[in-house]
Amino acid sequence: MKKSILITGGAGFIGSHVVKLFVKKYPDYRIVNLDCLTYAGNLENLKEIEGAQNYYFERVNILDETGLTEVFEKHGISDVIHLAAESHVDRSITDPLAFVKTNVIGTVNLLNTAKTFWKNYEEHLFYHISTDEVYGSLDEGGFFLETTPYDPQSPYSASKASSDHFVRAYSNTYKLKTVISNCSNNYGPNQFPEKLIPLCIHNIKTNKPLPVYGKGENIRDWLYVVDHARAIDVVFHQGKSGETYNIGGFNEWKNIDIVRLLCQKMDEKLSREKGSSEKLITFVKDRAGHDLRYAIDASKIQKELGWEPNLQFEEGISKTIDWYLENEDWLNNVTSGAYQQYYAEHYSNR
Ligand code: NAD
Ligand code: DAU
Repeated sequence: MKKSILITGGAGFIGSHVVKLFVKKYPDYRIVNLDCLTYAGNLENLKEIEGAQNYYFERVNILDETGLTEVFEKHGISDVIHLAAESHVDRSITDPLAFVKTNVIGTVNLLNTAKTFWKNYEEHLFYHISTDEVYGSLDEGGFFLETTPYDPQSPYSASKASSDHFVRAYSNTYKLKTVISNCSNNYGPNQFPEKLIPLCIHNIKTNKPLPVYGKGENIRDWLYVVDHARAIDVVFHQGKSGETYNIGGFNEWKNIDIVRLLCQKMDEKLSREKGSSEKLITFVKDRAGHDLRYAIDASKIQKELGWEPNLQFEEGISKTIDWYLENEDWLNNVTSGAYQQYYAEHYSNR
């Protein structure tokens, strides 16, 4: 059977890289991007493939059961790669219910649609994209393994943990073929400038304060988004049903060190006096319940599926800064809100 893959959240940061990879690499697959275009959805991310023969876009909310069923029927969906989510921790602190709705109820809606539409479960895969944040927070030592007990600390991570549990429950109860991957912090082109790295790049460029939460001592494990998309490709095609795969870069950085690195690199790239961007660093009130450290042990996916990151961090950061500097229009359209007109201007007559 020819694959018709539903990729949810494909207009977002990671989803758009996954859609681009699959559309280009697998011309025989039908790639259906389903996204309701929240503030985080940006169809400009997909400009380079929007005319491809094997690419389809459906503006549907995963909370809309009828809309989901129509998309499954229209495109004969054979597999799902589910990325659609509310993804920003700070927003989850001010509006937890939005995260429960999309991340928990939306995921269950999607599972129900797949469960009803698919007849022989052996022929189909439901692949759920999750986060390392479900494992909670680490102190100085140790890594998150696939067997680490869940201990989510923020409303965002609680909602993602809940969705992971539902995916496993559908596998156990209804024998749906499922796989889950839990990834560390991504960075790279097309990331919405509310997240640390693009926010700092934008603020350095425009000489605005760089807000560092608390003392900047919190540690994250960073992975270039294209390496994550490659890992998703590998897990989708080779992952074992019922398994979980941790994805990460073995690349831990304190927030303050990342912000300083961005300042140094941007001083060079913008030909500014050495040390001038660091003056923008501003320590601000800490995030409520701020997890201290995340660190993924990605040896299972390396050993079993042969995936490892291609890009070293300093090279990835340099590429990312270059992308934001070269794609001023993308950033201007995001900050002005013009990106939200892209659907009406380019897709509404399709
Ligand atoms: P993002 O916020 O950039 O994109 C999310 C996309 O989902 C947007 O296009 C948005 O319009 C869409 N969406 C949101 N609610 C929807 C709904 N109800 N119906 C349909 N579409 C909806 O997110 P991202 O950073 O690309 O993350 C993608 C996935 O990867 C999420 O599931 C996230 O939990 C997970 N993840 C992210 C990271 C990271 O560092 N960004 C790391 C690990 C895992
Ligand atoms: O670990 C994976 C997770 O990484 C994903 O599941 C989430 O979807 C994604 O948003 C990301 O979560 P974080 O909270 O780690 O990312 P964020 O970019 O918001 O913050 C990174 C770190 O920087 C975190 O310790 C908080 C800090 N921070 C963030 C912002 C936005 C600041 O110090 N200042 C800021 O302005």
